[in-house]
This record gives sequence, structure tokens and C-alpha cells, in this order.
Amino acid sequence: MPGETITLQTGQCGNQVGLQYWKQLAGEHGIGPDGTPEPFPTNNGLGFRSESIPIETSSTKYRDDRPELFFTVSDSNKYTPRSVLIDLEPSVIAKCTSSLPMYNPRNIHLSEQGNGAANNWKHGYNYGLQNQEELLNLIDREADKCDNLANFQLFHSVAGGTGAGVGSLLLETLSDRYGTKKLINTFSIFPSNEKTSDVVVQPYNTVLTLQRLIEYSDATFIYHNDALNTIQNLLFNSAQSHGSVSDGFDGANKLIAYVSASISNPLRFPGYMYSSIESIFSTLVPTPDLKFLTTTIAPFTSQVSKHTYSNEYDTILELLNDRYKMNRVTEPVKYISVLNYLIGNNLDQSEIRKGTIKAQSRVDFVPWTPSSIQLVHGKKSPFTQDGSPTHQKNLSGIQISNNTSIVQVFAKILKQYDLLAKREAYINSYTESKDRSEIVRVMETFNQCRESVASVIDEYKACQSTNYLEDDILGEDEVM
Ligand code: GTP
Repeated sequence: MPGETITLQTGQCGNQVGLQYWKQLAGEHGIGPDGTPEPFPTNNGLGFRSESIPIETSSTKYRDDRPELFFTVSDSNKYTPRSVLIDLEPSVIAKCTSSLPMYNPRNIHLSEQGNGAANNWKHGYNYGLQNQEELLNLIDREADKCDNLANFQLFHSVAGGTGAGVGSLLLETLSDRYGTKKLINTFSIFPSNEKTSDVVVQPYNTVLTLQRLIEYSDATFIYHNDALNTIQNLLFNSAQSHGSVSDGFDGANKLIAYVSASISNPLRFPGYMYSSIESIFSTLVPTPDLKFLTTTIAPFTSQVSKHTYSNEYDTILELLNDRYKMNRVTEPVKYISVLNYLIGNNLDQSEIRKGTIKAQSRVDFVPWTPSSIQLVHGKKSPFTQDGSPTHQKNLSGIQISNNTSIVQVFAKILKQYDLLAKREAYINSYTESKDRSEIVRVMETFNQCRESVASVIDEYKACQSTNYLEDDILGEDEVM
């Protein structure tokens, strides 16, 4: 039986992505912006369509989806996200609550100063520390509303001040309070390398945050702004006639939201497989050291663009294309695990089998894994279906994989970090004083974080060898 998920959204990026995520979930469960449920659609034989049925039939009692895993439901049948919103400046949260009045105003934490964390991890972290009790109270109160809390998930950017610094503090706090019993996963947004960074200290912030992800997260989904830009350009070029892509982060955030929401599809629209978030993560994360996950989207399916020519076979092969990966992939990679989600109606099993066999022969797995692609047959939300006969399957596809692209992504971050660190550039904004001893102390702490990141790179390199697991076992024996 799946348990509930509590979402934390921190900083500008975390809250902007979080807003799109809740719009996506609300849309999939037919919940209006103010939390009022729409009538549950009924199957009219041609797909689903909203019938004008009495409002009482839209209560959870009659539904076969499970919105209550992500929303609380009041006695008056209003839905509220199980989400805590945190920021140090008010504008983005104001945008969230005006777009989605369903957010619980009691679950919002705003700094009284209201001037952000100045893109400085230390400011964010210290703010979190000073307000730890209040933040924990918000989270505990939300946890108390759950019957069987399964996990916490955090939306944040790794590179700024609030999402990175407060986010790091939250990971430490959650791990301390809930870590042995509840899973903690993150949707972590990485800054663009291609667009010149407006913030020169981003590599410091990123390395400090990565150390907390390495230590406290059970699974981290990496979304790289460069990769998201590539996918958007691709969709924009091929969908120009539809004029469907907007400027700024809007398009990227919708992609992140769509994929992040799809991950929990088998829990929210229950089927016969993957009935808990634990079962999804344990398919993907073989050891706690290998937990950085890449998502891929099949962009030419009905849910993402107006193109609908893909069938199951095409979709499975599309998911192998590195250009559709949301993490930056610059070299051929090896795979530790692959989980494909095909979400749609009346899926053709023989096309799925054919596609999966073909894809399996093309995927380069590390030698010690079963070398097979796992599959989720997801159910389409009845609220987001296009009833027209050409869109009957409403097919969409995503992939989650654990692969060695992490080596390049993390190595690039360390290269940028080393350029700053070797000159101790801008280190004064992370120290309490200008004393030499304080600078040395802070540099030591930073370099310890750097070493944690380097050890993940080493682990992803080592896992490509045949005797990776044997080495591990030998290591354990030696310790004993
Ligand atoms: P402070 O501004 O220092 O208080 O921290 P913050 O966590 O609010 O910073 P922010 O979230 O703006 O993080 C900075 C990084 O996130 C930059 O690399 C931005 O490019 C990226 N970013 C900011 N907003 C968004 C967004 O809505 N979507 C995406 N994909 N990236 C974003």
C-alpha cells in the first residue's frame, strides 16, 4: 500500500518548479486551482469524458485514483497540497498562491527581512539553522496529517542561496528526525554551463549542496538547465506552428513538473506493479553510493507536444536518445538501471515487447547488472485525455535511468570549483571574519565537500568494472 508524500519547495527555482508540479498533479486529478474537485470522468467507450454527474460522485469515495497521497482532503471535499513552501523573499510565493489558492497558507514560511539569500549558500544555511524549529514545526504538522507517510521530496536549485542553503539544512534536519524511517528524495536543478553564469560563486554553492545530497538523500533526480534548454529548442523548432513554447523558465519548469509527476503515476493511478515509492527507488538505486538519477522524456507524444505519431515501439526507442535526457549527457554512457514508463490506454503489448527487446540490445549496461529494462505500464489520467479518435492511446513515455553521465556533470562542477578555490576567490563572503585562520578553516570544510563529490565520481567510474560488487565485498571482509 503506497504511503503519502510531503513536498518541500525552497527558493525561487524550487517554488517556481513546485508551482508547475502542483498544477500538473491538480490537472491529472481534476482538481481546480482553489482545491475544488471536478466531476470524475466516466468511460464513454471512446476514451474518457467528463459527464455531468452529481457532484457527490466526485468525492474520494468513488474515485479509483489516489490524489490523497499528495493532497489532504477536507470535510468539505477541498484538496490542499501536502506541501511546505519556503523562501527568503516574497514575490515567487505570492505568484504561487495567486495561481493556486489551494496551497495551505499555514504551510508557507517567508523571511521577515524579505531580501533573499544573495546567492550565497551560507546565508541560506544559517537562516535555516536560525529558524530550524519553526521549519520543523511546519513539517511535523504536515507529517501528523498522514496515515502512513512514505517520503519527503524537495524541489530546489543547487546553485543559489535559499534552495541550496536552506535545502541543505532541511536535508540534514529531515534525516535526523525521519531519516531511518522515511525516504528522502530530491528534484535538484543544476545551473546552465552554456549561458554565462550570472553568479560567479555557483560552483561553491553547488559543491556544498552536493555534499548534503550525497549524505542525506536516498535518490536525487538531476535536472540540468542546459539539457532542458536543448529539449525546449527541439520542441520549439518542431512545434513552431503551434507556438507552444514560452520564454524564460516556464517551458523548462513544465517539463520538470510533467516528468516529476509521472514518476508517481503508478501510485496515484494504481495498477498491478510498483505499488510503493520504495519499490521504484529500489529498482533504480542498487547501492546508496549510486543514487543520482537521470530522466528522459519522449517528446513527440501527445502529452508533451501536438505530435502524436509515436506508437509504443517508437516511444521506447525515442527514450534512448541522449538529446531527450534532462541531465547533461556529452559522452556515451553506461547504465546501471533503466525504468521505462509507458503511460496510456489500451497499450499494444507486442509493440512494447518488440521495442523493449530492441532497446535492450542497444543499451550499454555495466557488467554486473541484470541488463534488462524494467517497465511501468502507467494509466492515463482520465482528466487529461483527448477524446478524439486519433488520440485514443494518449501515449506518453518517460525513462528514469541510473547512468554514468554523472561523471561528466560532477567533474565539470569540480573543475569550476577548483578554479575558484585555488585562488580562494570570493571566499570572504563565506567566512565570519577575514582572519587567515578562519579562511583556512572554511577552505578545509569546502574541500571536504569537494572530496565527497570526487568520491561519487570515483564510484560511478568503478561501477563500470565487472568485479565492482566483488571489490565491495572484499573491502567489507578486509574491514572485518
Ligand atoms: P537566492 O536567490 O540566493 O535567495 O536563492 P534561490 O534558491 O532563490 O536561487 P534560485 O532558485 O534563483 O537559484 C539560482 C539558480 O537556479 C540559477 O542557476 C538559475 O538559473 C536557476 N533557476 C532559477 N529559477 C529557476 C526556474 O524557475 N527554473 C529553472 N529550471 N531554473 C531556475
